Amino acid sequence: MSRRPLAAAAAALALGLGAGGCTALDNAIGKVPWFTTMQQQVVVRPFEAGALANGAQRMPVPGTVPITGHEDSLDILTDLRNVTNPVGRSAASLERGQLLFDTYCIVCHGPAGHADGTVVPKFVPPPDLTLDASRQRSDGYIYAMIKQGRGIMPKYGDKLRGVDRWNVVNYVRKLQGIP
Ligand code: HEC
Repeated sequence: MSRRPLAAAAAALALGLGAGGCTALDNAIGKVPWFTTMQQQVVVRPFEAGALANGAQRMPVPGTVPITGHEDSLDILTDLRNVTNPVGRSAASLERGQLLFDTYCIVCHGPAGHADGTVVPKFVPPPDLTLDASRQRSDGYIYAMIKQGRGIMPKYGDKLRGVDRWNVVNYVRKLQGIP
């Protein structure tokens, strides 16, 4: 007889757990200060700004890229011509820009931008980047050419990402003799 209330309580508990999961019980226990539950922890919830002072959402971990969506296609003449170059022409930027230019661009544009790359005799010659017409282009225009290409110039936006595009812009500027 004396065991009956205990059995009833156990059954009620089991029913409670089965019906409502642990949350209701856990919430109830959490109201008793003596029980320190996992409710009392520092939690950053999805889309919460976390530590960013400006209220922006958390940035992706450096070196990672989204696997869904795509970058907008921008019109070279209207959308990007006036974009300001955010990367200063530091020695480090120029060094990185040269490495990338010598990797991707040199075959057509040549080591100094004079359109004398190794494939040019077998291909359509590109413009000499050091002539006035190209020198007068804006940084944003060159950025867009790198990102999207045009005509028979391939796009390099899938190979050069983020500030690396601006590093190449900076190096092209150096080849053009623009400080
Ligand atoms: C396969 C050859 C080829 C490669 C590689 C190449 N380009 Fe070009 N580039 C061209 C051709 C051809 C044009 C002319 C396209 C047009 O006017 O439609 C051009 C145009 C340009 C222009 C525009 C010049 C102007 O004044 O309008 C820039 C800037 C440029 N390229 C920079 C680069 C950079 C930087 C790279 C490397 C990331 C690169 N190109 C790689 C062939 C190439």
